[in-house]
Amino acid sequence: MEKQIVLILGKGGREHALARKCSKSPLCKQVYVIPGNDGMKNCATVVKDIDYENPLSILNFAIQNKVTLTIVGDEMFLEKGVVDLFDKNQLKIFGPTKEAAKIESSKIFAKNIFEKYNIPTADFIATDDKEVALNFLNQNKKYPIVIKNDGLASGKGVFIINSLIEAKNVINSIFDENIFNNDNCGVVIEEFLEGKEFSLLAIVNNNSYLTLQPAKDYKKIFDNDLGSNTGGMGCYTPVDYVTKDIINFCNKEIIEKTIKALKNEGINYKGVLYAGLMLTNNNEVKVIEFNSRFGDPETEVLMPAMKSDLVEVILNILDENILEVNWHNENFVGVTIASEGYPGDYKTNIKIANKNKLINDEFIYHMGTKYNEKNDFFESNGGRVLFIVNKDINKSSCINNLYKKIEDFNFNKFYYRKDIGK
Ligand code: AMP
Ligand code: GLY
Repeated sequence: MEKQIVLILGKGGREHALARKCSKSPLCKQVYVIPGNDGMKNCATVVKDIDYENPLSILNFAIQNKVTLTIVGDEMFLEKGVVDLFDKNQLKIFGPTKEAAKIESSKIFAKNIFEKYNIPTADFIATDDKEVALNFLNQNKKYPIVIKNDGLASGKGVFIINSLIEAKNVINSIFDENIFNNDNCGVVIEEFLEGKEFSLLAIVNNNSYLTLQPAKDYKKIFDNDLGSNTGGMGCYTPVDYVTKDIINFCNKEIIEKTIKALKNEGINYKGVLYAGLMLTNNNEVKVIEFNSRFGDPETEVLMPAMKSDLVEVILNILDENILEVNWHNENFVGVTIASEGYPGDYKTNIKIANKNKLINDEFIYHMGTKYNEKNDFFESNGGRVLFIVNKDINKSSCINNLYKKIEDFNFNKFYYRKDIGK
């Protein structure tokens, strides 16, 4: 196979994990990241001085630098139509078109597909009419209930509601104040599912797909799953409660059905189809949502856990060849180090000690950091700052040693959950 020049699009821990994985591939001779962050310089060339929000600038960069494979991390690039532009110019890119990415960017679109094609999900109503939403809520007797904003909201567009007053406030803020500042001013109101969540990521092209090992993401800010939703505060893989039978069910009844459903609607899916799933207390699996990209932080545990070569897997699926993916036997657990105050307001530019470890430790992924050249240290540059991983055959020692490693850093100006994996 021809040696690849790979371009990764995004700037967080997920892209750091993808870049590191690709940089280790014998098939890869160069990895670029746009826009990346300073922490990724240990495994990739971080491309600065580019108008990364302009798809044409990215296309020109790829042409000029003879990029042979582009992998999209961040959904922003999908929304902007980067894949459509690369496809049109016959440049190899792994990610869905803007239309296909609607499976994530419009929850109403996704729920209507689930209903039409009998894909298991929470009961719901979907509407872009405020009065319909309020009428439904006035009749509803069962709480909690879940209200979701239709458009993209970085994992923060979901409200778990316990009373009619609360529900009405949320509806008002979505319809009248457009709090998410996006074009999709509609809502999904759905049944609250109880059970255990997990993420299943499929690598898809047309009729071909393969699924990665399941991972468990911790969405809530505080220990014991309390507080607001975040982008993800910790993660582990594999997941003991997701049996082979459950995975087979998900493959047939959820992933395959969704790919076929989209096809039936005239949409060919290429890229990661990430199912956020609930194993309910009745032992049924239901789709909570689909994302049209790699998960963050799932990718930060899945990439080190993957024995196979990601570049080889993706190049093959782009030719509609399905490779078997092999996994290391160990447990991989990771914790997000966040800015104090995240997911609300937080300060940036807080110094992070241990520069050498931050550069050399292959199990540290930079989610939002910046190198302060003048003072020669890394500092925070986002809500989620670092993702620190450990691996071990024994899960308890994996977790204990992970927290020891974190304590050694002395992150007293940052926040992290203390119960990941426990
Ligand atoms: P989403 O953005 O749709 O993935 O939702 C974010 C998080 O909100 C999920 O990972 C769940 O923890 C929670 N959530 C969303 N929908 C439901 C639901 N119907 N029942 C229970 N929890 C939910
Ligand atoms: N881990 C949640 C997400 O990537 O949306």
